[in-house]
Amino acid sequence: MRGMDDRLQSLAKQHLMLHFTDMATLVGEGTTIIDRGEGSYVFDTDGRRYIDGLSGLYCVNLGHSHGEEIAGAASEQMARLSFSSNWTVAHPPAIELASKLADLAPGSLERVFFTSGGAESVESAWKMAVQYHRANGEPERRTVIARQDAYHGVTMGALAMTGLEECRAPFEPFGVPAVHVANTNPYRHPEGADEARMRDALLAEVEATIEHEGPGTIAMMIAEPVQNAGGCLVPPAGYWQGLRELCDRHGILLVSDEVICAFGRLGTWFGAQRLGYEPDMITFAKGLTGAHFPMGGLLISERVAAPFIEGREIYLHGITFGGHPVGSAVALASIEIFERENVLDNVMANEPLLDDLLNGLRDIPIVGDVRGTGHFWAIELVRDQETRETFEGPAAEWLLKDVLSAELWGRGLVCRLDDRTEPIVQIAPPLVADRGTIEEIVQILREGLTVAAERMSERPEPAPAS
Ligand SMILES: Cc1ncc(COP(=O)(O)O)c(C=O)c1O
Repeated sequence: MRGMDDRLQSLAKQHLMLHFTDMATLVGEGTTIIDRGEGSYVFDTDGRRYIDGLSGLYCVNLGHSHGEEIAGAASEQMARLSFSSNWTVAHPPAIELASKLADLAPGSLERVFFTSGGAESVESAWKMAVQYHRANGEPERRTVIARQDAYHGVTMGALAMTGLEECRAPFEPFGVPAVHVANTNPYRHPEGADEARMRDALLAEVEATIEHEGPGTIAMMIAEPVQNAGGCLVPPAGYWQGLRELCDRHGILLVSDEVICAFGRLGTWFGAQRLGYEPDMITFAKGLTGAHFPMGGLLISERVAAPFIEGREIYLHGITFGGHPVGSAVALASIEIFERENVLDNVMANEPLLDDLLNGLRDIPIVGDVRGTGHFWAIELVRDQETRETFEGPAAEWLLKDVLSAELWGRGLVCRLDDRTEPIVQIAPPLVADRGTIEEIVQILREGLTVAAERMSERPEPAPAS
C-alpha cells in the first residue's frame, strides 16, 4: 500500500496541477490521495478513513455507495448510445431528464438547457438574460447584480459575477459588467441583530444600486439561496420575496444559483422551494448526478423561454457535452435513488440535530457564530466572542492551515477551512449521513477547535493600528 502511495505522490509532484492549491506545499510535502469511498466516508491510499464532511465539494449528495447501481445505468447507456449532442437533435435520456427536472422544479420553470458544470450554467444564464432582453427591445440590459464574496465559478463570465476580490483581481477587466451588493451575513451586518431591519437595509441597498446603475441597464440579479462563501449565509425572512418584487418592478431577471443548494442540500429539490420564492432561472450542477458524472444546467421559466420558443430569437450558445447521454442517464438514476431512499426527508430530519449539536460548540472561546440550513453549516471563528474581533492575514493562516487543518484532518474529518472572508469551518455531509456520522463530525470539531483555542497564546498578534 505504502509503495503505491510513494509512487503516486512522486507522480503527483511531477505532473499534477491542483486547483486553488499552494503547489509549493504539494511539491514539498505531498498531498492526501483519496482512493476509494463508502457511504459517508473516503479512504486514502494508506487506508486511512475520513468522514467526507464536505460531500467532496458539496456534490457527493448520495454518498459513496451507489456507484455500482449508477454504473449499471451508465453502462447500459454507453452500450446503447455513448454520445449524441443536444445541438439540433435530441436523445431520450436528455428529454426524460429535462421533463423530470421540470416536474421537480418550482412553478413555471419548465425548460432545461444542459451544461457540463456550474460556471457554464451561470454563464448560460447571463447569455439567456441578455438575449431575452434583446428580443424584448432592451439590448442595453447587460449588467449583473451579484453579492459580495459570493462564488459563482471562475471562468471569465462567471468570475465577473463572483464577488471574491482575491479570485477576481488578477483577471480584471471582465466582459460581463457586474456590481456587487452586501451579502446576508447577520453576524457582520450592522443591522444583523434585527432580522427585519437587516432585510430592509439589504433590499434598500439593492434598490439604490439599481437606481445608481440605471434600471434599464440591468439584465439580471444572481444570488444563492444560502450563500456558500462567507460561510452558509442564510437570508433574513422575506429577503428573497423582496428581491422578487424589486426585480419585477425594474424588469430585471432573478437567477437563483443553486449549484450547491439544489438536489437536497437544503432539504428540498431546489433551494427556492425551501425559502419560498420563484426565480426566473435556476442554475444547477454538482448534486444533480450525486457527482457520479460532471453535469449541470439551467432551468428557465416559460416567460424567459418565450422569445426563443416563439422564434424571435435563437439562443447563441452550445456546449459539446451539455446534456451528455451518459450523464443524463446517470442523473436519472441518481434522482431515482434520491426518491427511493427518501434522501430529502433524511436532510430535514437531521437539520435540528446539526443545529443543536453545532450550536453546542459555542462554549469554545474561538467559536463566534454557527449558521446554516439542511446539510450545509458553517462556524465562524473569532479571537474574541465579545468583540467579534476576527483573525486576519497570518493569524488566519496560522489558525486554519497550521492548527485546524492538522487537528481536524488528522482526526479523520474532511471539511472546509476557508479564510477568503472571515475564517470559517464548513461542513456539508452527504445527504445520506446518519445520526452517528453527524455526532462523530461534531465530536471531532469539538476536539480540534478546543485544541486551537488552547493554542491561542502562540498565535501571531494582529498588526498594531497605524
Ligand atoms: C454557487 C456556485 N455557483 C457556481 C459554481 C461553479 O461551479 P463549477 O465549479 O462546477 O464550475 C460553484 C462552485 O462551487 C458554486 O458553488
